[in-house]
Amino acid sequence: MTAQPQPTLSLLDAIAQRRSARAFKPDAIPTAVLHEILRLGTQAPSAFNLQPWRFIVLQSADAKAKLSPCAFGQRQVTEAPVVLICCGDTTAAEADNIEAVIALGQQQGAMPDAFANYMRTGIPQGMGDRPSFTHMEAWINRQVMLAVGHIALVAKAYGVDSCPMEGFSTSAIQETFGLPETVIPCCLLPLGYAAEPLKQYGGRFPLDRICYGDRYGEPFPS
Ligand SMILES: Cc1cc2nc3c(=O)[nH]c(=O)nc-3n(C[C@H](O)[C@H](O)[C@H](O)COP(=O)(O)O)c2cc1C
Repeated sequence: MTAQPQPTLSLLDAIAQRRSARAFKPDAIPTAVLHEILRLGTQAPSAFNLQPWRFIVLQSADAKAKLSPCAFGQRQVTEAPVVLICCGDTTAAEADNIEAVIALGQQQGAMPDAFANYMRTGIPQGMGDRPSFTHMEAWINRQVMLAVGHIALVAKAYGVDSCPMEGFSTSAIQETFGLPETVIPCCLLPLGYAAEPLKQYGGRFPLDRICYGDRYGEPFPS
């Protein structure tokens, strides 16, 4: 039996210490650690628990070399031992996946029949009316990027660095890696152990610049 990998940082320390790595050592990520990062990272929430994220897990030098021109030659994607192409399946709000989520919830004893029926009718209706988004690309990014954030933080807790990347060509990735038109690449996430040069912490805005009170523009009470 393989020993359960142990994190080296608490979640709060992982949040404080995570930085986007631009250079990686060649050291491999142990398989058990990679699986745990993906398993815990995908505990992220998603609308109706539809879990529309899909990950192409690149580990071979050949696959990473193919990704390099799609990502404009950014060094992280060839240096990192693992690169995730984090995608969203826009068909996840259709009947097949709704039934799969219902079955999953039933296995957990957490899917009352009334809610299952609400999902069967409410999801197609909501996806048709789209009161909170105008394009499926917005919807899918909303879901997938939460999982990407979870993965980056779980990875850091296991001592594994990452770098979320939007510097890529969607059409080049779709063509090179055989994505159907309904599957959208949202982000690349190289994973591995940071090497020099480390990019320094760029700081974060104070809360009074990014938070408002009861209405947009009103000061956030300190
Ligand atoms: C959606 C997204 C896209 C990004 N794209 C790139 C990228 O293409 N290349 C890159 O080197 N860094 C990329 N970054 C990393 C940001 O530059 C970095 O998160 C930011 O400067 C804050 O630094 P920190 O992550 O080290 O705290 C991206 C980050 C996010 C969240």
